[in-house]
Amino acid sequence: MDCSHPCLVLENVSRDFGGLRAVDSVNLTIQPGERHALIGPNGAGKTTLFNLISGELRATDGTISFFGADVTRLAPDRRAARGIARTFQITKLFPNLTVLENVLLACEALDRRKFTMHRPLASYRDLAQKAANLLEAFGLAQLRQELVRNLSHGDQRKVDVALSMAGRPQLLLLDEPMAGLSPGESHSMHELLEKLDSTIAVLLIEHDMDVAFAFAEKITVLSQGRVLTEGHKDEVRASRTVQQIYLGAEEPPC
Ligand SMILES: Nc1ncnc2c1ncn2[C@@H]1O[C@H](COP(=O)(O)OP(=O)(O)OP(=O)(O)O)[C@@H](O)[C@H]1O
Ligand SMILES: [Mg+2]
Repeated sequence: MDCSHPCLVLENVSRDFGGLRAVDSVNLTIQPGERHALIGPNGAGKTTLFNLISGELRATDGTISFFGADVTRLAPDRRAARGIARTFQITKLFPNLTVLENVLLACEALDRRKFTMHRPLASYRDLAQKAANLLEAFGLAQLRQELVRNLSHGDQRKVDVALSMAGRPQLLLLDEPMAGLSPGESHSMHELLEKLDSTIAVLLIEHDMDVAFAFAEKITVLSQGRVLTEGHKDEVRASRTVQQIYLGAEEPPC
């Protein structure tokens, strides 16, 4: 990792789905440790942009650099090994496994990417210790033997975030971690996000403007695949265009 470079740089990144340009010439720079929120109406291209950064989707155009290295054509597992982690809008946990088993699998998968298929027994003990530490750090230790399908939605979301931290990432992409949570669960998730290691850059997709502005210093507003505005939260909050377009999209249909 080269710390003289920004954590993440997107230059004119686009993605087409047939005739639809879902992400359109997006430029975005994120510094190490930055807290950045990505907001915009439904269908604006937020999740697609995450998929381009994490490698689930290939960019049609443009370049993506991570600490100065071009990762535009790297597969998702190679990007994860370099330190890009994410959660998904729809959880990808294994519902019929316990919380601990889910965490162990994530730790094991990330470990394998970095090391070897053949491992001494002691490394399994290391994995178990790592999983236990992770659960402890996220306040999930007492739920470790619960099947994921029996957890509340809020606790499942916390497990999602814990798993994304298993590989000690430098950049964490969180796709609507508060979606569908009760006010109490949302508050608890917000506290958890506030406690994340401050050296890790976090890019958060969030529909609730209050949550986005409370969490992030910098905000990017995406609309129809394009960056409508980007800047410090105070500038973005003051933008009438942003208020009209973003809040306008929140109004119920007539
Ligand atoms: N795999 C795909 N194939 C075809 N079109 C897609 C695909 N994924 C996304 N799209 C389209 O791209 C556009 C952007 O979708 P995307 O999911 O990125 O939006 P979003 O900002 O995350 O929306 P939401 O707030 O509802 O999650 C939408 O028009 C969507 O229908
Ligand atoms: Mg989305």
